[in-house]
Amino acid sequence: MNRLIVFCVCFLAILPHNPAAADSTRSSSNSLIPAPLFLSTTAEGFKPGESVGISVGEFSAMRGTAAWLAGLMSAGGREFSVLDEGQGELAIRSERVSGEVLEKSFRSAGQSVPARISEAYSLAISPDGVMIRATTETGQFYGLVSLWQIVEALPQDADWPGVMILDAPEFEWRGLMLDSARHMQSPEFIKRYIDWMALHKMNVFHWHLTDDQAWRLEIKSWPKLAQVGGFRVPAGEAPAADIDPDTGEARLYGGYYSQDEVRDIVAHAASRHVTVVPEIDVPGHATAAIAAYPELGVPGHGVENVPASWGIYHNAINLEESTFEFLEDVLGEVVTLFPGPFIHLGGDEVETDQWEHSSRVRERMDELGIESIQGVQNYYVERLQGFLDDYDRRVIGWDEILQSDLPPHAAVMSWRGVEGAVEAAKKGHQAVLSPAPILYLDHLQTAAANAPPGRGGVMTTRDLYHFDPLPGSLKENRDLILGLQGNLWTEHVRTEERVAYMTWPRAAAIAELGW
Ligand code: ACM
Repeated sequence: MNRLIVFCVCFLAILPHNPAAADSTRSSSNSLIPAPLFLSTTAEGFKPGESVGISVGEFSAMRGTAAWLAGLMSAGGREFSVLDEGQGELAIRSERVSGEVLEKSFRSAGQSVPARISEAYSLAISPDGVMIRATTETGQFYGLVSLWQIVEALPQDADWPGVMILDAPEFEWRGLMLDSARHMQSPEFIKRYIDWMALHKMNVFHWHLTDDQAWRLEIKSWPKLAQVGGFRVPAGEAPAADIDPDTGEARLYGGYYSQDEVRDIVAHAASRHVTVVPEIDVPGHATAAIAAYPELGVPGHGVENVPASWGIYHNAINLEESTFEFLEDVLGEVVTLFPGPFIHLGGDEVETDQWEHSSRVRERMDELGIESIQGVQNYYVERLQGFLDDYDRRVIGWDEILQSDLPPHAAVMSWRGVEGAVEAAKKGHQAVLSPAPILYLDHLQTAAANAPPGRGGVMTTRDLYHFDPLPGSLKENRDLILGLQGNLWTEHVRTEERVAYMTWPRAAAIAELGW
């Protein structure tokens, strides 16, 4: 097991998942993060042997994923391996059961039946071994993850405690967003990040792939997006002055994800029951795209280079028919790479002055019947949702997309506080809560003088644990709240090590609130 996981998990295991439940007698089975819906300890546990066989039963698609977890469990000293029935002694078994069977178990334990039974599982540790019951592979996976957390926290030679767990999540969307535009992380790191999410039963990886400072996704029909848009001078005065004698130019920082790498990451995520939601941020935050293809910009507002400074740029893409053809080409490739139901189209912080002062944009607005500058953004969302309808995909965007009417099935990500979710719900749209500053993981997590750089204003793990995922009127609109998400913007977060540091342990609190 890699060292960072060991660190995260050991650290997480001592954190109170529920402050009221924090006590000195906690055993490995009640240090689960997120805390299970129901856990009772039973008199007798299980005495595992030196080698422990795991059967995935009817969940045959889970063999590879179970082998990964077996590898993690083996780090404790015992040898765990995935076996077929009849291949050896099986200490850990799985059984596919119907929803009714699982529901009955909840009722028998005096619990109400959870809404998300498709992700539910039961886990029993008894003298006969371990039995995980679930209706789906996802439920079975969560049962195995809980078992790993229990085993991980025990001394190498300990018996396993007798427990009965009944568990299911509260929210459908338990997400993290990672900004790979401002600073890029390697595909290997992204896969590990997804692993850490999965080990906390988080299930949506929102991947911020394009912004003013970079376009990181290979698009075959528009190759300069990545080849030009993926590279810039690093931020700061010193790098700009660091001239490469071979080229006479400042050295560039950057890169992009090839489509093969993306497919590999998406498949890896699927094996961890995580859906990847790509973000292609338009019509603002698009300077890197305009640098690659100046014809996408508003006439008179050319961009020479992909910029290196942070902040909000005034560049927005234009309203030409050729620009919509461009967007359809891009999204046509995006939907082949990302099979999940949502495509994030950004829509945040769009400065409209270039549109307002452009006679060509005004002319196009007249042609398209767009009555106000405010309506321009709405036109993008409607038109692109129309395109995505053909692929059965839904748009999700930052809460600015609410400024005019949205297609009914478009969803909203509330970031300027929770008001975006309140308004979305009032209008009948589904919403995800990812409000700044509380769920913005780029904020410092400690006031310590030697803390790695971050956005000013400290947000501690404790602060996050106290966030109410259904504040105020959202309680009445529970059905429209998909869930919640932490966002890690990386202007201040230059290295993978710091990405890991800024994310954990705070993401454990988000996992807890979402479950
Ligand atoms: C955002 O933080 N601009 C969504």
